[in-house]
Amino acid sequence: MHLIAPSVLAADFTCLQKDFDMVNRSMADWFHVDVMDGRFVPNISFGMPVVAAMKRMAEKPLDVHLMIEEPDRYLEAFRKAGADVLTVHYEACPHLHRTIAHIKETGAKAGVSLNPHTHVSLLEDVLEDLDLILVMSVNPGFGGQKFIYQTLPKIRKLKQMLQERNAHALIEVDGGVGLQNAEKILQAGADVLVAGSAIFKSDDPEETIRRMKEIGTAKMV
Ligand code: DX5
Ligand code: ZN
Repeated sequence: MHLIAPSVLAADFTCLQKDFDMVNRSMADWFHVDVMDGRFVPNISFGMPVVAAMKRMAEKPLDVHLMIEEPDRYLEAFRKAGADVLTVHYEACPHLHRTIAHIKETGAKAGVSLNPHTHVSLLEDVLEDLDLILVMSVNPGFGGQKFIYQTLPKIRKLKQMLQERNAHALIEVDGGVGLQNAEKILQAGADVLVAGSAIFKSDDPEETIRRMKEIGTAKMV
């Protein structure tokens, strides 16, 4: 069954505990944590002290998405702050093979993210080493953007590549995901759905998570 990872970028920062409690008791699987440095992406979000505070509130794994330049410099620090999955960007890593090994040395699961323009074939030579591939379905940097539909064929291609090699990486899709397009994204081959605004800005976030989690599991009768 697919996993749901609410993106806490869209949570209420004046009362994170409340939103974390909601995710803890919901059917969500992970907390998706977006770290932005104002260089790799135009926006700045938060760093290690905030991630460490989130770790204390979270009863589910922290899926940390590093939208930063030179991520190698900070891998240990984010692992120490509580990251269970550490995802770096392909576009920020000239020595990606080494960076993936470095993530694994910290004890975290290793993920690589692709911007919308980055072709999935570029991951061919590291595919077997990865635990997670994060396909960006918006240009990273901001929540609340529109899903880019060219992402769907990318997911299909990636799924096929993984199956051909019997590789185990999960495919995660991030940006503009909501109840209106989740089924299509899952059908294309996604294993993990990240959703920020669609969850936290909805009238009943816990119910939205439940509906997102139950997509595709409806009984025929
Ligand atoms: C975008 C971030 C996303 C973002 C998703 O750069 O990586 O995780 O929070 O937000 P929504 O679901 O609102 O598009
Ligand atoms: Zn993200």
